[in-house]
Amino acid sequence: MGYRVAVVGATGAVGRELLRILAERNFPADEVVALASPRSVGREVSFGDDKVLKVQNLETFDFKGWDIALFSPGGAVSAKYAPKAAAAGCVVIDNTSHFRMEPGIPLVVPEVNASALKKASRGIIANPNCSTAQMVVALKPLHDLFNIRRVVVSTYQAVSGAGKDGMDELFAQTKGTFVNDPPTVAQFTKQIAFNVIPHIDRFLEDGSTKEEWKMAVETRKILDPDIQVLATCVRVPVFIGHSEAISIECEKPVDLKKAREALRKAPGVILRDEREDGGYVTPIECVGEDATYVSRLRIDPSVENGLAFWCVSDNLRKGAALNAVQIAESIVQQGLLKDGQLFRRNEIPDEDEAV
Ligand SMILES: NC(=O)c1ccc[n+]([C@@H]2O[C@H](COP(=O)([O-])OP(=O)(O)OC[C@H]3O[C@@H](n4cnc5c(N)ncnc54)[C@H](OP(=O)(O)O)[C@@H]3O)[C@@H](O)[C@H]2O)c1
Repeated sequence: MGYRVAVVGATGAVGRELLRILAERNFPADEVVALASPRSVGREVSFGDDKVLKVQNLETFDFKGWDIALFSPGGAVSAKYAPKAAAAGCVVIDNTSHFRMEPGIPLVVPEVNASALKKASRGIIANPNCSTAQMVVALKPLHDLFNIRRVVVSTYQAVSGAGKDGMDELFAQTKGTFVNDPPTVAQFTKQIAFNVIPHIDRFLEDGSTKEEWKMAVETRKILDPDIQVLATCVRVPVFIGHSEAISIECEKPVDLKKAREALRKAPGVILRDEREDGGYVTPIECVGEDATYVSRLRIDPSVENGLAFWCVSDNLRKGAALNAVQIAESIVQQGLLKDGQLFRRNEIPDEDEAV
């Protein structure tokens, strides 16, 4: 039997990728509906190579009878409509940050913690932040071997992480530079073309940013509540593909050979580390790919049991749409769509789910 699947935010950067990936992976869908704001009603979006869907209005859509909804319409819209969809019996997989840290809502990267899906009690599952998703895929095999205690990460995040408007702004500023047009700054705090900006999401009281906070708390919720994370999140003039320079400190002695073997076998990871010119992966090479690439693996001699590496992935895929579809696949494979298993309304959620 196939499922009825709704894609919410279908005209956006993540929504379009969701439709592409559902088709690419032959997700067992009998019917797919594309939803967005009233602005987009009637617009056409592609579904696979040969189908086109007419966008419908989220505001008036009835989720009754629909099995799965993949949401990426922004936090405030998910906050309002995801609980409505869940109340109608439709399981929601949400890409926004709104529900990620709430109790009773699993935050899932299937290669790392697919079993947490069974703990869903509100019919909503959260997809992590794009930078967290690729990082935990790479950290998991190393954590299993060496027990990671601390992570220091600097990110180089593509403008598509800020949606289609962010991509348009980089394009316009880049083009404008060559015809002497003054840059228009709207999506980012400063000019992004030919520049880098050490600021993503809003500032918090301690001087860190919300994006950096998300990487820390989400890593703890997904991988291990005892891991400390210091993140510096930076926007760079790359359209698609987030890069991360990651250093870890572990409890156990680090063995480079074992680390390589584990990364080679790890689901979702491709190790490309040739220690020669070009023997590493850059963001432009990961566009349209599913893997999280690890390169530049080396011992960090500045701390005890330290290891450093470079990690790259397509932020619209593993960082958002692919991970969401993998969650849907895992729910199906684990038989969790049957008998309202993800809607145990009266159950008190585990305390340790809230970080
Ligand atoms: N881009 C990434 O790498 C990434 C990764 C992880 C998570 N996310 C999260 O996913 C969400 C969407 O990101 P995006 O990059 O796809 O943004 P985007 O390109 O700006 O797209 C936003 C989508 O949401 C829809 N939308 C906006 N307001 C709506 C409303 N009131 N009702 C229904 N639909 C509405 C838009 O529809 P209209 O065209 O009709 O306005 C559009 O389809 C954000 O919360 C973002 O933080 C993004």
